[in-house]
Amino acid sequence: MTNPPEILETKRLRLRKPVLEDADEIFRQYAQDAEVTKYVSWRAHRNVAETSKYLRMCIASWGNGKGYHWVIERRKDSQLLGMISARVDSHKWELGYVLARAYWGRGYMTESLRAVIQWALKQTEIHRVWAVCDVNNVGSARVMENAGMKREGVLRRWSIHPNVGDAPRDSYCYSIIKDLERRPLSKGAGQSGKRKAHV
Ligand SMILES: CC(C)(COP(=O)(O)OP(=O)(O)OC[C@H]1O[C@@H](n2cnc3c(N)ncnc32)[C@H](O)[C@@H]1OP(=O)(O)O)[C@@H](O)C(=O)NCCC(=O)NCCS
Repeated sequence: MTNPPEILETKRLRLRKPVLEDADEIFRQYAQDAEVTKYVSWRAHRNVAETSKYLRMCIASWGNGKGYHWVIERRKDSQLLGMISARVDSHKWELGYVLARAYWGRGYMTESLRAVIQWALKQTEIHRVWAVCDVNNVGSARVMENAGMKREGVLRRWSIHPNVGDAPRDSYCYSIIKDLERRPLSKGAGQSGKRKAHV
């Protein structure tokens, strides 16, 4: 498995491997925020020590190939905005993401998600990039659609969102896949059989 780049850059953003020194800013910006953490799979952090512990896990996972976490920062001023993560399961990558409330609604997460998807689907061994979101998390569903992912359906009682309650909740499942089918090409199109991202 190819290790992903520790830095992925987009027009406005830099996705980079986290460092422990990010803990204060992550805690302050979003990890303790009840609104931001409403539909995530982890409990809102009560103190920066919890954020540090989480970050240690994020950094360590780069070494075992089980997952990759990038801090999202703005290129122009290095402002930390959020995080995007990939969980690796063979040819399948499951993504998760979070953005500090002050930066919502500016297209930052769509830009981040596109960057990770584009990199991932160029890799020979990654065939499916997918994610789930709570059926009430309208913004997250929209981000996935804007990044080219397709809704596959509802996974009933799939995700526990501990900041909402203990009972598992229904989630939308979205994916984008590498299309390996050889499709008939329209006249004038190039060679057949080329791999392409199916959006
Ligand atoms: C979901 C989240 C990542 C979106 O990040 P963002 O950078 O604000 O997203 P973008 O600006 O790229 O796109 C947001 C899209 O959702 C839409 N949207 C956001 N909130 C919405 C709402 N409540 N109802 C309808 N549409 C909504 C926006 O209009 C935009 O779509 P458009 O460009 O087609 O108009 C961010 O709100 C967040 O971090 N939320 C908390 C954590 C979370 O829920 N993470 C996902 C767990 S699955």
